[in-house]
Amino acid sequence: MIALGCDHGGYALMQDVKKHLEERGLEYKDYGTYSEASVDYPIYGKAVANAIVSGECEKGILICGTGIGISVTANKVKGIRAALCSDCFSAKATREHNNSNIVALGARVVGPGLALQIIDTFLDTPFSNDERHIRRIEQMED
Ligand code: RB5
Repeated sequence: MIALGCDHGGYALMQDVKKHLEERGLEYKDYGTYSEASVDYPIYGKAVANAIVSGECEKGILICGTGIGISVTANKVKGIRAALCSDCFSAKATREHNNSNIVALGARVVGPGLALQIIDTFLDTPFSNDERHIRRIEQMED
């Protein structure tokens, strides 16, 4: 199950993301926001982060205008590794190296075509399970 969260800046792109996930047959849970009315991004960043640490969802997708506020918020929750990505190389590397559990996007930064490619790359790339990467991830939580 994939947890989705966005603010008003990410709302329009999130509608494209939901359609894309449905076309791929992937299940998601939408934690809002549910319109383009102005809201505070921490609410949605925390909701998605909590859904992951509770085990309700395995991965998350967060979108705000820049992707920064919502990813910084999510990363304050212990156990969350949210990667703000604007390119597919980073999306692949952060899964392989950081075992990131959230990809964050800036809807005012990337277009919808690239955003969906980044999401597919993130969702489809497994963690490397390399000892050095496991060690470094453990060090993050010390
Ligand atoms: C909202 O205007 C904007 O500040 C928000 O979407 C995000 O970019 C914050 O980091």
